[in-house]
Amino acid sequence: MAEVPFDLPSEALEGRVAVITGASRGLGAGLAARFAEHGLQLGLCARHEPDAPPGARALTGAVDVTDAAKLDRFASAVASTLGPIDLWVNNAGVLDPMGPQRRHDPAAVDRALRVNVGGVANGTRSFTDRCRGWAPARRVLVNVSSGAATSIYEGWSIYGATKAAVDHFTEIVAAEEPGVLCHAVAPGVVDTEMQATIRTHDERTFPAVERFRELHRTGAWSSPAWVADHLLGLVAATWAPETVVVRVPAEPRS
Ligand SMILES: NC(=O)c1ccc[n+]([C@@H]2O[C@H](COP(=O)([O-])OP(=O)(O)OC[C@H]3O[C@@H](n4cnc5c(N)ncnc54)[C@H](OP(=O)(O)O)[C@@H]3O)[C@@H](O)[C@H]2O)c1
Repeated sequence: MAEVPFDLPSEALEGRVAVITGASRGLGAGLAARFAEHGLQLGLCARHEPDAPPGARALTGAVDVTDAAKLDRFASAVASTLGPIDLWVNNAGVLDPMGPQRRHDPAAVDRALRVNVGGVANGTRSFTDRCRGWAPARRVLVNVSSGAATSIYEGWSIYGATKAAVDHFTEIVAAEEPGVLCHAVAPGVVDTEMQATIRTHDERTFPAVERFRELHRTGAWSSPAWVADHLLGLVAATWAPETVVVRVPAEPRS
């Protein structure tokens, strides 16, 4: 992977505690692996209990982010086992329903809203409420967004709308919680199961599908480690975006 253009001093990262939702695969699992390489302790959850990266001090749990009480109990367990949480990443997300909105299954719409918006709100509440009771320290909230929050992709009306909601929600949380550094972060394109699902569609359900097939052919992805290092730059205060809503720059090709 490419090296990020800022320092990640080990004294600012080692032993810090990070929670990642949706850490059973894809970007979340990749973030966990990279955070562990930097010596962070980890709280990892998803509906399928994630594997802890080898050698990492970690607490894992099978938690659906739409279950606010269970997610909150997981936050408590992480804090009592590993210590106050320094970085909380609301990463869990779903893409479906894809295709023209007039064909959507209402149950799938409801599910996407509950996971992509409700799950982010649940995680944010569990984290920020606890932050107020902990000794002041640099504490960072990252809500994983997408370029789809602002781009017009036909076939992604619900996905794009949920990510736009994540952006605006995070801007308001940032105003409400001055003691927590809050960012909605679009990670760029990362090679995950979500991307594989996109490529199973055709022009009728997702007119931009060829762009994503081309990304796959050329391997023009950002690695999870590249995204992870940007999030760690927020913790180390060496990456300091000026806006709440930010996009991780595309990883340069070597
Ligand atoms: N990949 C990209 O290019 C890209 C680009 C922009 C934004 N993103 C965003 O990045 C995040 C991760 O995406 P990805 O590409 O890694 O997707 P993915 O491969 O589909 O992984 C999604 C993760 O979310 C978890 N998850 C889904 N529903 C959940 C729920 N109700 N409760 C708890 N965990 C749940 C899944 O685990 P379980 O099935 O075990 O629950 C899985 O670990 C998403 O928010 C996505 O919108 C991705």
